[in-house]
Amino acid sequence: MFAPWADELVERSGLGSGDRALDVGCGTSIVARYVAQTVEPDGSVAGLDLNEGMLEVAKATSSDEGSVIEWQEGDATDLPFSDGTFDVVFCQQVLQFVPNPSTTLQEMCRVLVPEGRLVVSVWRPIEFNPSYVTMADTLERHVGDETAAMMRSPFPSWGMDELRDLVKEAGFHDVSVTIGIESMRYPSPEEFVRREAASSPLAEPLGALKRVVREALVRDVEESLRKYTDDDGVVFPMEAHVVVARR
Ligand SMILES: C[S@@+](CC[C@H](N)C(=O)[O-])C[C@H]1O[C@@H](n2cnc3c(N)ncnc32)[C@H](O)[C@@H]1O
Repeated sequence: MFAPWADELVERSGLGSGDRALDVGCGTSIVARYVAQTVEPDGSVAGLDLNEGMLEVAKATSSDEGSVIEWQEGDATDLPFSDGTFDVVFCQQVLQFVPNPSTTLQEMCRVLVPEGRLVVSVWRPIEFNPSYVTMADTLERHVGDETAAMMRSPFPSWGMDELRDLVKEAGFHDVSVTIGIESMRYPSPEEFVRREAASSPLAEPLGALKRVVREALVRDVEESLRKYTDDDGVVFPMEAHVVVARR
């Protein structure tokens, strides 16, 4: 799901061979692996995540591809690296989940060399991602408020100016915020629901649903996404803010 976005981040970063890069909240490693392809063999990549399970998948996937990446379990709000260690810091779809985004940005600033680049992406507010409005509203009707809130949680309310200020106040300059739009495709609305459930904390509440409730939920999502349904399944736009800045 995040591969096209990782491509865009790498493209916007101005990354070059020999750069030292960090991927904060690397998850299963899509950004770190793309970065490695550009900076290797003279540069280096480190990937940091709080979640050990994510790092296990990251390690296995990158070694299958032959990339040498340093994996580090750690917290984005307290990065375990010395000042000025990296030329470029990436952070894809993480800032909205940390308890203190300002501290996290300050940490990313600290570990960059002077004039080093920051490249961050977060989803635009949920109203710019209408299929997720549909999903959240449907979950609210069939499952409950708490599960609907989980579905809305990846979409921060930050507008462009708020995000720009947050990054500037952390110590960055030359801050540019752009809107990225990609299309997401699934073979069916049911598969959209299944993959959302399988790849997020929704797994537990959705896994616990009675079959009849789950079927009603899928029917509702199908109906609401009819306008995005074609002969190949379901396709809809997703919008993110992409921030590039210098230390
Ligand atoms: C939506 S995933 C994005 C993963 C990855 N950047 C990608 O593009 O596929 C969010 C990731 O942030 C990690 N994360 C959340 N809070 C964190 C923190 N405080 N420090 C480090 N990682 C964190 C999660 O474990 C998860 O892997």
